[in-house]
Amino acid sequence: MKFLGKPRSQRAAFLPLCLLFLKILHPGHSHLYSSRYAGDKVIRLIPSTEEEAYALKKIYQQLKVDLWQPGSISQVSEGTVTDVHIPHNGSRALLAFLQETNIHYKILMEDLQKVLEKGSSLPSQRSRRSVPGYNYEVYHSLEEIQNWMHHLNKTHSGLIHMFSIGKSYEGRSLFVLKLGRRSRAYKRAVWIDCGIHAREWIGPAFCQWFVKEALLTYRSDPTMRKMLNHLYFYIMPVFNVDGYHFSWTNDRFWRKTRSRNSRFRCRGVDANRNWRVKWCGKLGINRDSDPKVSISFTLKNDEPSGTPT
Ligand SMILES: *[C@@H]1O[C@H](CO)[C@@H](O)[C@H](O)[C@H]1NC(C)=O
Ligand SMILES: *[C@@H]1O[C@H](CO)[C@@H](O)[C@H](O)[C@H]1NC(C)=O
Repeated sequence: MKFLGKPRSQRAAFLPLCLLFLKILHPGHSHLYSSRYAGDKVIRLIPSTEEEAYALKKIYQQLKVDLWQPGSISQVSEGTVTDVHIPHNGSRALLAFLQETNIHYKILMEDLQKVLEKGSSLPSQRSRRSVPGYNYEVYHSLEEIQNWMHHLNKTHSGLIHMFSIGKSYEGRSLFVLKLGRRSRAYKRAVWIDCGIHAREWIGPAFCQWFVKEALLTYRSDPTMRKMLNHLYFYIMPVFNVDGYHFSWTNDRFWRKTRSRNSRFRCRGVDANRNWRVKWCGKLGINRDSDPKVSISFTLKNDEPSGTPT
């Protein structure tokens, strides 16, 4: 999904939209995610010198902030816009530090919980449940997405074939849509997966949108027709199914998978770092600073060929 190139700040703008319907999903809960984000802040900081960048990196590590951008603490440098989600019990320390060091900052969200809850009370748009009127402009739960896939598999069998490539760590099917006309036995193929990072809900929304566009324009758009005649698109709308589900039910900002590892207390791996190649390159893996990927880093030293995700 990286090729879409949505900057994180833009993704964050989707948050209110994402949370629109959680109340419908969990009608019994009046407080989203059990109010776990009450008092949390989101703060934007732009270090104006390398010294400030260094100081920020240190405090981010100390307070274990949840970095929304850039991708990792090691990428914080002079002039970089950094957005951090800081838990309520750390924000006092961070603000005191910023005042002391005179680093310029702007509070983007005073209380993250309120922002999430405000988003969830927006008037609901068209029906999002029934598949024929499927709403491509809202985020959908895993169950809804899978129902949508099953529906397309039934109603568009000329262009779509849905199959499973295995099971996730928690036993969920890993479904893929093979999109394209069965015109020849052998066709070149394009692989598109979305939702490798659970909390980035715009990814799965994009994959669904792509399928919709392809089906809608197959007859009217010569380019689309040509592509679907000559190629197969293998589309996996939700790659990290366990994490995605968890980001709907427990932790809106969960990013990794949900696997357990006997040697570590924390759960999951960052699935796009879970390969035996280029672990410590420019992607910004930093041994000490980034709890999101430190498991992968440690495992790397033992040379696994990847862990179950
Ligand atoms: C905030 O609370 C969490 C959970 O109780 C704890 O793990 C963390 O260390 C605390 N952070 C600070 C900066 O006190
Ligand atoms: C999709 O449809 C085909 C043909 O009807 C069927 O064989 C296949 O099992 C379906 N896929 C899934 C995952 O249900």
